[in-house]
Amino acid sequence: MRVTSLAVEGWRNLSRASLTSDARFVVLHGENAQGKTNLLEAVFMMASLRSFRESRPRRLIQHGSKSAGIELEVVGLSGKRKMRWSYGPSGRKLFLDDGPVSRLQEWFGPIRAILFCPEHAAIVRGGPDERRRFIDRARFTAAPAYLDLVRSYQRVVRQKAMLLRGPARDVELDVWDQRLVDLGMRLAQQRQQMVDELREPFKQMIKEIAGNETVDLQLRGVGIPGSSRGSLAEIVARSRAEERRQKRVLVGPHRDDLAILLNGRLARNYASQGQARSIVLALKLAELLAARHRNDAPLFLLDDLTSELDARRMRRLVGVLSQMQSQVWITTTDPAHLGPLPPSECLLRRVVGGTVGSEAGTRQRGTDGAEE
Ligand SMILES: Nc1ncnc2c1ncn2[C@@H]1O[C@H](COP(=O)(O)OP(=O)(O)O)[C@@H](O)[C@H]1O
Ligand SMILES: [Mg+2]
Repeated sequence: MRVTSLAVEGWRNLSRASLTSDARFVVLHGENAQGKTNLLEAVFMMASLRSFRESRPRRLIQHGSKSAGIELEVVGLSGKRKMRWSYGPSGRKLFLDDGPVSRLQEWFGPIRAILFCPEHAAIVRGGPDERRRFIDRARFTAAPAYLDLVRSYQRVVRQKAMLLRGPARDVELDVWDQRLVDLGMRLAQQRQQMVDELREPFKQMIKEIAGNETVDLQLRGVGIPGSSRGSLAEIVARSRAEERRQKRVLVGPHRDDLAILLNGRLARNYASQGQARSIVLALKLAELLAARHRNDAPLFLLDDLTSELDARRMRRLVGVLSQMQSQVWITTTDPAHLGPLPPSECLLRRVVGGTVGSEAGTRQRGTDGAEE
């Protein structure tokens, strides 16, 4: 899929900005705090209906404005689609080809995105919740209906937690345990499927980006197909007394972890900063490769590439991306860092103080890497 035009209004520090973006690589460059990431965030918002750095949508509205809007055109397997998002005093509104959107599944058909940003180092080095979020997000990008399952499961965990805090009767807890086990097993299965889909592409991409490291991915927790720890139902039943005591839901896939192994050890404990970056990048590229195997090509969004990668890894990254079908959006302070992007397929736009540089058409990257 390819976003061919993007316009925002009252979005962050961009009062009004637009660009036509019919290129494989869209590079947004400029000094710090100009609005590059804000623009990328707008694309991500359309692909996920949430921001990757702000949970309160109110904050996305430009200071002093009442509402924010994003409009784009995306071209993909289902042809050309027009999408509009807005958020204001009366809440969120979504339009697809000028009609209001009633089912979210409809929305995510034409547009999905994989994001890589500096904060994602936490996927390797942070807590299990970071890795669960990664795998859930990857599964959502592959199959948007997965979101419903995740939400239903989370609701059940919340309900059960509420019961545990009060004087719950066993028969009441039985009902919620049953739901938790049913949904939890389906969740674990889908996560396992995603991990299986990512494993080989991940190994392949680590070779491309980092060279001779050996990596592996394993889902760890209860209810995972083939897990030796007994069935989820058994473990949930066995844990009741302890859950009552702690008044918390102790067992279920909301506690799972994704073990990322680097040369046989947990990368969480052993990966250096540089290795962690390579691992996250390889995971994100693995998502892209897995998508290609499914004949899908989500957008690939790379935030702030300037500081992230050394020249060698950058060259390799660009090499890999050039072979993919996906449209790639990159923000950077210095496009010279990016190395050789295919000039005929590359669009450079300078972002200054919340405005996007003039539309001079697709432009080759100059020798100094800057746009005049
Ligand atoms: N709701 C908002 N209204 C106005 N400005 C905002 C809003 N949210 C963030 N900003 C401003 O946007 C700027 C950061 O933009 P950003 O896209 O992160 O910069 P960069 O070009 O470095 O990626 C900051 O100056 C910040 O104050
Ligand atoms: Mg930025």
